[in-house]
Amino acid sequence: MERLETIILGTTEEDIRKGAEILRDGGLVAFPTETVYGLGANGMDAEAAGKVYAAKGRPSDNPMIVHIADRKALEGLTSGVTADMEALMDAFWPGPMTMVVEALPQVPRVTTGGLDTVAVRMPDHPVALALISESGVPIAAPSANASGRPSPTSGQHVLDDLNGRIHAVVMGDNCQIGIESTVIDMTGETPMILRPGKLTAEDFEKVLGKPVALDPALLQKPVLVEDPASQNGPAKIADADFKPKSPGQKYTHYAPKAEMIIFKGEPEAVRLAIAEAKLERVQFGEKVGVIIYDDSKPEEAAHNFFAELRAMDKAGVDVIFAAALKEDGVGFAVMNRMFKSAGYHIIEV
Ligand code: TXA
Ligand code: MG
Repeated sequence: MERLETIILGTTEEDIRKGAEILRDGGLVAFPTETVYGLGANGMDAEAAGKVYAAKGRPSDNPMIVHIADRKALEGLTSGVTADMEALMDAFWPGPMTMVVEALPQVPRVTTGGLDTVAVRMPDHPVALALISESGVPIAAPSANASGRPSPTSGQHVLDDLNGRIHAVVMGDNCQIGIESTVIDMTGETPMILRPGKLTAEDFEKVLGKPVALDPALLQKPVLVEDPASQNGPAKIADADFKPKSPGQKYTHYAPKAEMIIFKGEPEAVRLAIAEAKLERVQFGEKVGVIIYDDSKPEEAAHNFFAELRAMDKAGVDVIFAAALKEDGVGFAVMNRMFKSAGYHIIEV
């Protein structure tokens, strides 16, 4: 790929105008949202959207989320807006909710990863909304990380992964939520959560007054098969039966460069097991990173998790030991990311 001169933009009106112009011209512009930074391209322009896959090194069957700044833009993407969708939009947009809906023929299949459905979100961030409005087109935007890496929650994270590969980055604040939006499939009889996030099944059920399903793959932990060729890992995933409905959920994801192991069990036992494992690794001359969150503050864990993985990589950590959080509320979404980061390498204590 040809190396680009990535333009660093601020958040002034003039910067936003410049970013919007680049988007309209078919370029790639990263920008902040309340969840994570997105890598934007004109979602209605197949050529522009195609560039996103190349810049990220992303598999082309992994569909992108189309970001809009007002509900009218939905009419250009789908014809099937139901009462349930209206109710969810009233309650949660702008915000960390992505709805999967039937796609109109004019939505490029490059944007949808070849699917006849399209994922749509209205982010709750003034800079993102201004950039999308000013561009005048729906903006396809996956998280602005190199494929497989932890999602970026600061402009610097974006540059660390994509400098020279994208046309511009709008440098805003660090992202407030810190993990990606909840993806909910609205195309079936029963709405189904494909990717957990800050908004939970209970949040949606309260608004809809009916049950919301979880993609069964979210409750499955792939069976680990140790690679016989290596001494102590890395573990491999046997994924023959692991078939998530959201294509993005099947790829190795959010991985730090360091080896990562999750310890699961009673908090005290976990602390002890991590301390012991740390001592052993340190004796072998390894640099060890430890992640232990306050179980009663999963929002804080969500806010910090990806940034912490990246900080540990920068510090040259060899192995990360992380304590599992309780899998309820936002904790369920954090653990969904943490399991993938560790390649499902879990030690029960
Ligand atoms: O918070 C977010 O959602 C961020 C910010 C930038 O808005 N974006 C984000 O995009 O996380 P990305 O591309 O990293 O993740 C999109 C997820 C993937 O798991 C993808 O497979 C799924 O949404 N997805 C997109 N379109 C879909 C569709 N039509 N059907 C099922 N899953 C879809
Ligand atoms: Mg992503």
